[in-house]
Amino acid sequence: MFSPRMTWLGLVAMLMLKMNPRALPLRRVITKEGVRHMRQLIALLCRLSVCVCKRSVLAAGLGFCMVASVSAEDIAVSEQTFGCILDWPKVRNTRFKHSDPEKLKEALRIFRDSVPDKEYPVGTILQLVPFEAMVKHPHEKFPKSNGWEFFALEVSEAGTKIRDRGDNVVNLSLGAPCLSCHQPAAKFDFVCEKGHGCAPIPFDDQKIAELQRADSRCGKK
Ligand code: HEC
Repeated sequence: MFSPRMTWLGLVAMLMLKMNPRALPLRRVITKEGVRHMRQLIALLCRLSVCVCKRSVLAAGLGFCMVASVSAEDIAVSEQTFGCILDWPKVRNTRFKHSDPEKLKEALRIFRDSVPDKEYPVGTILQLVPFEAMVKHPHEKFPKSNGWEFFALEVSEAGTKIRDRGDNVVNLSLGAPCLSCHQPAAKFDFVCEKGHGCAPIPFDDQKIAELQRADSRCGKK
C-alpha cells in the first residue's frame, strides 16, 4: 500500500540523488522523462495519503456520532419536564410520562402486571404525588438505584422548581432517603407500589388522589 512514509522515502531518495556525488552514475541513468514520472507519482501518493487521512477523520467522526447517539437515548430533565400531574396517564396510584408513546405503553404494562426482573425504559418518569418523581436513566448514571434519579419538587401555580435531585435525595416529611425505602423493591426495578417490600408511606389511596387533584399547576388552562 502507498503511505505517507513511502512518499517521504521517495522525496529523501530524490534529494540524496541530487546531493550525493557518489550517486552520480545512478543519476545519469535517470532521464528527464523518468524524473517527471517520479514527480507525478509523488503527487499521486500525496493526494492518496490526504484521501486516506480524510477517510480516517470521517471514520472517527462517524464513531463519535454513534457514541453520542447512544448517550442521546438518555433523558435530560429540567423543570419544564414536569407539569400538571393530572395530564399524565395513571395505573392505580402512579402517573406516567415518556416522550416515546411505545415506551410509555411498555412502562404502563410493566407496572400494571408487576413484572419482576424487568427494567423500565430509559426516559420513563413516575410520580405518585406532585412534589416527588423518579426518572429512569441508563444504569451507569446512577448505579446504586439502577439508573433511577429521585426528585424532590416544589410545585406552585408558576410551575415546578427542582428542590433536590440525584440518588441521595431525602424525603423531608418522612425523614428518610428515597432510596432507603425503594431499595427493597430492587426486583421490581425500585418501584414500590404495594407488596414489593417497601416501608409504607402515611398516605392512603384516597389521600394520594387528593394530593394529585390539588396540583396547583393544573389550574391555568
Ligand atoms: C417511607 C418509605 C418511602 C420513602 C422515604 C419514599 N418513598 Fe416513594 N414510595 C413508597 C411506597 C410504599 C410507594 C408506593 C405507594 C403506593 O403506590 O401506594 C412509593 C411510591 C413512589 C412512586 C411511584 C412509583 C412506585 O415506586 O410505586 C414514586 C415516583 C416515588 N415513590 C418517589 C419517591 C421519591 C422521589 C422519594 C424521595 C423524595 C420517595 N419516593 C421516598 C415509599 C417511600
